Amino acid sequence: MCNNNQPDLLSNYLATSFIGRKVFHYKSVSSTMEIARTWAKKGSPDGTVVIANRQLAGRGRMGRTWLSPENNIAMSVILRPPLNMLPKLIMITSVAVVKSIRTLFQIKAGIKWPNDILIDSKKVSGILIENELQNNRVSYSIIGIGINTNLDPASTPEIAAIATSLSQESITGTSEIKLIGEILNKMETLYQQTLAGSLQVFMEWKENMVTIGQPVSIESGEMIIHGIAETVTENGGLILRHPDGRVSEEITGEVTIIKD
Ligand code: BTN
Repeated sequence: MCNNNQPDLLSNYLATSFIGRKVFHYKSVSSTMEIARTWAKKGSPDGTVVIANRQLAGRGRMGRTWLSPENNIAMSVILRPPLNMLPKLIMITSVAVVKSIRTLFQIKAGIKWPNDILIDSKKVSGILIENELQNNRVSYSIIGIGINTNLDPASTPEIAAIATSLSQESITGTSEIKLIGEILNKMETLYQQTLAGSLQVFMEWKENMVTIGQPVSIESGEMIIHGIAETVTENGGLILRHPDGRVSEEITGEVTIIKD
C-alpha cells in the first residue's frame, strides 16, 4: 500500500456532501481523538476528518493503547448527531468499515460485538467513539477509526496472536486514501439513512456480526461473565444467555469468542 500522505487526493474518492469535506492531515500526533476534540471545540463543521500518518499515544477502548505506526490508518471524524442516534454511531462506523473492505478487496470481514472488525477471527480495525454532551444534547461526537494496513503483528508479542493487517492478508495494490474515501462515503450514506429513521444500519450490523451464536466471555471492569451471544439489539446491546438459562442485555464490555 502506498502511504496516506496524500490528503488532497481524498476529494477524488469522495462522493459525500459533508463528511470529509474538511480534512486536517498530520504527520505525527499524540492521538487524532485529541486533535479532533480541539477542532470540534473550536466549532469545526460536522464531517471534519483528522488523519494522522502515525500516532504516538493512540488509544483504544477500555483504556487500552492502540498501536499506530506509520502507514496505517488513524483518523477521527467529528459529527453532531441527535442524542437518540448515539447508539447507532457504532453500527454506522463498523458497517462502513466492513463493507469498504469487502468492496475494495473482496475479502470477508466481520464485526465482533460491539465494533471490532475481524478478518478470519483476527482484529484488523478498531473503533473508538467519544461523546461530549451538554444539557442532554450532543455537543460533538468524535469517531476514531484505526485500521491495520501495514502493521506486522508478529513484531508486537501482545497482539501477535489476535491481530492482523491488510498487508498480512495479502491485500496490496490500493491506496489507504482510497480506502478512507470509501469508508467516509459509506458512513455518510448510513448516517443520512439513519437520521431519516431507517433501521437499515442495524440490520447490516447484525448481519455482519460474527459474535451471534457463539460462546463468549465478556469482561467489564473486574467482572467476567460467560454465556452464549444470542443476538444484538437496536440499542447496540448484546443479548447473552447465561449458563443457568437467564438472559441479560449487555451494553458494554470486551468480548472474547471462545473457541473449542
Ligand atoms: C479499539 O479497538 O480499542 C479502538 C481503537 C481505536 C483506534 C483509533 S486510531 C484513530 C483514533 N485515535 C486514537 O487514538 N484512537 C482511535
